[in-house]
Amino acid sequence: MKRILVFALAILALVGRVRADEGMWLPMFVERLNYVDMQKMGLQLTPEELYSINHSSLKDAIVGLGSTPKPTGFFCTGEIVSEKGLLFTNHHCGYSAIQKLSSVEHDYLKDGFWAKNYSEELPAPDMTASFLIRMEDVTEEVLGVVADTMDWQARGKAIDAKIKELQEAASEDGKYNPVIKGFFEGNEYYMFVYQVYTDVRLVGVANSSIGKFGGDTDNWMWPRHTGDFSIFRVYADKDGNPAAYSKDNVPLTPKHHLPISLDGVKQDDFTMIWGFPGSTERYMSSYGIDYNVDTFYPIIIDVFGKQLEVMDEFMQKDDAINLMYADNHAGLANTWKNFIGQCTMLRKNKVSEAKVALENDFTNWVNGKADRKAEYGEALPNLQKAYQDLGTVAKQLFYPSLTIQVGPIGRAAVFAGYYMAATSKDKEMLEAATMELQGMDVDGFFAETDPQVEHKTFAEMLKLYRNAFDANELPEFYTTIIDKKFKGDIDAFADYVYENSFFATPESIKAFIAKPNAKKMAKDYAFQISQQLMETRVQAAPAYLKAQTVVSENDHVFVKGLREYYAETQPGKSLYPDANSTMRMSYGSVKDYMPADAVHYDYVCTANGILEKYVPGDYEFDAPKRLIELIEKKDFGPYADENGDLIVCFLSTNDITGGNSGSPIMNGKGELIGLAFDGNWEAMSGDVNFEPRLQRTINVDARYVLFVIDKYAGATNLINELDIRKSEPQPMREEVEE
Ligand code: ARG
Repeated sequence: MKRILVFALAILALVGRVRADEGMWLPMFVERLNYVDMQKMGLQLTPEELYSINHSSLKDAIVGLGSTPKPTGFFCTGEIVSEKGLLFTNHHCGYSAIQKLSSVEHDYLKDGFWAKNYSEELPAPDMTASFLIRMEDVTEEVLGVVADTMDWQARGKAIDAKIKELQEAASEDGKYNPVIKGFFEGNEYYMFVYQVYTDVRLVGVANSSIGKFGGDTDNWMWPRHTGDFSIFRVYADKDGNPAAYSKDNVPLTPKHHLPISLDGVKQDDFTMIWGFPGSTERYMSSYGIDYNVDTFYPIIIDVFGKQLEVMDEFMQKDDAINLMYADNHAGLANTWKNFIGQCTMLRKNKVSEAKVALENDFTNWVNGKADRKAEYGEALPNLQKAYQDLGTVAKQLFYPSLTIQVGPIGRAAVFAGYYMAATSKDKEMLEAATMELQGMDVDGFFAETDPQVEHKTFAEMLKLYRNAFDANELPEFYTTIIDKKFKGDIDAFADYVYENSFFATPESIKAFIAKPNAKKMAKDYAFQISQQLMETRVQAAPAYLKAQTVVSENDHVFVKGLREYYAETQPGKSLYPDANSTMRMSYGSVKDYMPADAVHYDYVCTANGILEKYVPGDYEFDAPKRLIELIEKKDFGPYADENGDLIVCFLSTNDITGGNSGSPIMNGKGELIGLAFDGNWEAMSGDVNFEPRLQRTINVDARYVLFVIDKYAGATNLINELDIRKSEPQPMREEVEE
């Protein structure tokens, strides 16, 4: 009997079920496109409470984190969680700033950092916080400058000029920073008006053994036990306006801040994530996917993999090197593993095949009418040809481009301008070039580089390059220098370069600048290599750029056609634009998944998993003693769930991507229940195609965040500042209000 009832309820639930999950929606259109759905799924806020340009709304608590004062792109998202401008983001988002604030003696990555009051908070280098004031459709104005007679480049120029003009007009003499971006491959344009705060300070961060627990082994995977959060504060001048760092600045009083819920999550609970996803390729053609999987990603995987191997070797045995390369390594490792995952899962999830099927339907539809055929008929064949062309030149462009950046070759390349001037016999040019030499920041070339790591990377990159090509495709120096003079021994050649090249050490470069000499330069091996790599690149670049232009032009036409195709064939379907570092909202629910036959992944993981994974002294799976003790004693305070367990991370079906890192995940009341920080391995193809059955967002639970702040770090000053809420148990019957 009971079973039948449950079954009946399940059917009802299915009937009433709304499909959300997929889509990164523009907040401005929430009311029209998403609101009804969201309400059905459990949203309790009004559209005005979500996005309003007249009143404070949820969007005012969402912050784009950038490394410059220009809000054109964001590396992560943050959210305001107190009336005093306190900001939560991921640990891996604060990572670069925290590394820059650290030294071997005060290593905040290793040991954590907790300011006890405002005066102890540390100005974060290169970290800005952008608040969205409003967004606006400017498609008509922007596309109004386009004429049919223009070719793709002329069109681009006209659009850029118009964008510049509109942005300037909206800046109100510098008060705002407006940014206009193209959507749907340049078929629509929107303006985003921001206020950018540049005084952002580090407030609190746990040890990396909490914030990056599991390291790169666990990265991009579930189950995850990472306390991926860090805490900053936004400062303003006394009127609340953005201001450069000053000790007179005060904590920002935000228009809105997010309360934090202690209620936790259950399967199917409504969730929404707001943030600044960086880039997706949901409308990419099968040809683009094949090019990435077969050609482009393998090159990057090859090169980054080798660079990481060298870094790892030195980082793990030396604290100073470990700190120096921390951020660089984390970034490379993240992309490297992502590309491996994309290659594997784009194939496994048959994404290209799915696109081919769509493209066939599209082509049939196009061929059904002469005018459609005239407008869209060439787009896919052109894309096919252009990606073929990219595939032909990619290796000859990317290997030299990545190798020319390495150590002495990279520094020698900077001197190419001087060499050209010196050998041109043009006096004025030489004078200017010599002046430029005097002004060079030589020590800057060696920032965050260790000579041992660099030396080995230099040798390994030259080996990698040699292995990637047939002998006849290699630049000359492999035969004329390495084979002839060093019997093909690249290590011996590298040793020689580090002993003899001007470009090996700061001292030798400074000595060279004091007495520049083009003849000597011509004999320098690092310089010779840099010249040859540059030449190789220059030969490959035009074909590459030309093919890329064809891709962007035909993507524009293809997506235009695709939108028309959907409008006609599936009129109920709303399309969302690809991510492009603008504010988006995604909604879905808490959900488990089955990654493989007979394997079921729960939607939450607990602190017990930290004990299971814990390996004392390990580079990735060590954990602070105090944390282990608290977990062993189950001393979780008010942050435990109803079973007395501490939930660390949970899964949801929200559609996010890189740039969303640090984004708030909220319940139906707009309260913070966690921070999004990753995607899962089985859906690494997700940037190209959303996989409803497999794709999940990995979130760190707000209760684990609070537990670390409160029980682990003892930062009660922060706990007191936060707006923490717990609902009363649901009354059985409606109660009369007083
Ligand atoms: N995969 C995460 C993202 O791209 C970054 C995680 C950083 N952690 C790490 N172990 N590298 O948002």
